[in-house]
Amino acid sequence: MAHPAALQPLRAAAPAHGLSGRHPVPGDKSISHRALMFGALAVGTTEITGLLEGEDVLRTAGAMRALGAEVEHLAPGSWRVAGRGVGGLVEPADVLDMGNSGTAARLLCGLLAGHPIFAVMTGDASLRKRPMKRVTEPLSATGASFWTREGGRLPLAVRGATEALPLDYTLPVASAQVKSACLLAGLCARGTTRVIEPERTRDHTENMLRHFGATVRVEDLTQGRLIELEGQPELTAAPILVPGDPSSAAFLLVAALLVPGSRVTVENVGLNPLRTGLFTTLREMGARLVVENARVAGGEPVGDITAEYGPLHAVEVPPGRAPSMIDEYPILAVAAAAAEGETRMRGLAELRVKESDRLAATAALLAANGIAARIEGDDLLVQGTGGAIPGGGTVATHMDHRLAMSALVMGLAARSPVAVDDAAFIETSFPGFSALMNRAAGGAAIGPA
Ligand code: S3P
Repeated sequence: MAHPAALQPLRAAAPAHGLSGRHPVPGDKSISHRALMFGALAVGTTEITGLLEGEDVLRTAGAMRALGAEVEHLAPGSWRVAGRGVGGLVEPADVLDMGNSGTAARLLCGLLAGHPIFAVMTGDASLRKRPMKRVTEPLSATGASFWTREGGRLPLAVRGATEALPLDYTLPVASAQVKSACLLAGLCARGTTRVIEPERTRDHTENMLRHFGATVRVEDLTQGRLIELEGQPELTAAPILVPGDPSSAAFLLVAALLVPGSRVTVENVGLNPLRTGLFTTLREMGARLVVENARVAGGEPVGDITAEYGPLHAVEVPPGRAPSMIDEYPILAVAAAAAEGETRMRGLAELRVKESDRLAATAALLAANGIAARIEGDDLLVQGTGGAIPGGGTVATHMDHRLAMSALVMGLAARSPVAVDDAAFIETSFPGFSALMNRAAGGAAIGPA
């Protein structure tokens, strides 16, 4: 999303009553991007239900159209993609603008590396600051050529490989995006692509590859995982049911834990164990979180989660848990602000290269609202109040949707309202966030600042 001309300042205040009700949240962002990309690479027509219609995913839909796939919006959440087959994408006529989305940009690099076409990619001011070398460097070994701005930043140009070579790559950082980029390039390569990840990261790419008929082998290593993909499979279109995004559910659930008198159920939440680190951590903090109706839908575990207000206590979050809750640290920090004692979240180096420097910005969010927080190396330490959060601050959101939503949740639980300078970027992942929170709160707790 290009930054809108006018900022959208919002303000959240404590609601009159606790949050209540049963609510769905929009579809999973990671799965939505992949559904569109794999649909574009499959032979046949892929029907997608529950697709997230946030800005980030719409960028991927636009890119797939520009690369020759037919992408149709049928009804809310319901999409149809007529694919071109592996290797069948065509040269886009214009620059591909991936807006705010790192996932769209990095996965697309993998896809383009395997096709013998020329493409140029850019993004908004946040995405143009983010490191792309982590994908362009390994992908160059396929035979693709990349040209980037200084520091490996967007805009970039790529000429994909004529006959892509399979990669054999050990990821230096645990990143599902880098892993997925390598696997997407591997689809077009002759032979076996091998990727080793140092820690297990979300495996939606592997699951969806299998769902479309590719051969993927996964081996757990003493540390991390080896993933092997047989190149040049015929991907066959298959229906996809996108579960609710656990990273979005997190905001409503944490709000319920912190606002006195709350009891909220979020329905149909994705519970892939490589995504549920936040729920594990909140339970360790004493949170009342119950999963019901656990089932498998569309190849992913899902369930309904109920959160109830109650006291929380501080914990130490181990660094190895980071990949399974990498997007949830800002909202965990808000929960930690209300918990009794000092919470230490370890090993957060990757937060520095998200939509913003989320490590610094989360510490600043807390400080602006009367909570003592500090960064020690790659750790974030939060001194909880064991009760109410003072609030009263205005939070700089740095074009980062998750900071905006975390600050607004904090406002619902704080003594004084919390404002954000710009809530526009919430549209990237959680359209309708404020309306949903206000429905749960039974009134306009979140409104214009
Ligand atoms: C994602 C992976 C994570 C996460 C992002 C979505 C994905 O990024 O932060 O929101 O869909 O693969 P990294 O791979 O950079 O950790």
